[in-house]
Amino acid sequence: MKERRFWKKWLPQRNGSFLCRRYCGSFGCGSGALAIAIAKRNPKAEVIGVDRWGKEYASFNKPLCENNAKAEGVENVSFRQGDATHLDFPDETFDTVASNYVYHNIPSKDRQAILLETLRTLKKGGTFAIHDIFSESKYGDMQAFIKKLKELGYEKVDLIDTTNGKWIRKSEAGWMGLSGSALLTGTK
Ligand SMILES: C[S@@+](CC[C@H](N)C(=O)[O-])C[C@H]1O[C@@H](n2cnc3c(N)ncnc32)[C@H](O)[C@@H]1O
Repeated sequence: MKERRFWKKWLPQRNGSFLCRRYCGSFGCGSGALAIAIAKRNPKAEVIGVDRWGKEYASFNKPLCENNAKAEGVENVSFRQGDATHLDFPDETFDTVASNYVYHNIPSKDRQAILLETLRTLKKGGTFAIHDIFSESKYGDMQAFIKKLKELGYEKVDLIDTTNGKWIRKSEAGWMGLSGSALLTGTK
């Protein structure tokens, strides 16, 4: 199955493209699915899922995340309330940061600033995998942003189209309102 192959490659995991060494932050974790999947694949890591849990996704909450982790038998994950635009973590906290379809939901004139806030919490040498709708209308010029990251010393920065069959097809992305979906990856 295409979807499974895609996430097998890109989920932070041992023997995958992304190794989650010790601490991993998953921002906008919702029901905890991504945080739990990372924790499961990296049993020696400590994964923290953060979400604002507001009224727009009312079925998502911290107890739900904790129950989902319990149901999966995953103990190396915890959850806390927080705002991705002002993360309550010191600079360079995490070895890996990851998120899925979060920042396009946050009303903002500058979503690149939200990306930088996420990357602030990443250690030098740490890896990031941020999946979202990176259309120009939502994020501005992402190629310029990638150039800026490279100038700041980030390496292997890539924006991988996930609507070309790697995850979903363009037609599916269209009717699901997910056109422009891509995975922003790299190393700090
Ligand atoms: C489309 S859901 C995605 C949830 C999850 N990442 C997934 O893939 O299932 C978007 C999530 O972003 C969260 N969110 C929205 N604004 C946020 C903010 N400022 N800080 C943290 N989380 C936020 C919402 O509460 C919601 O859980």
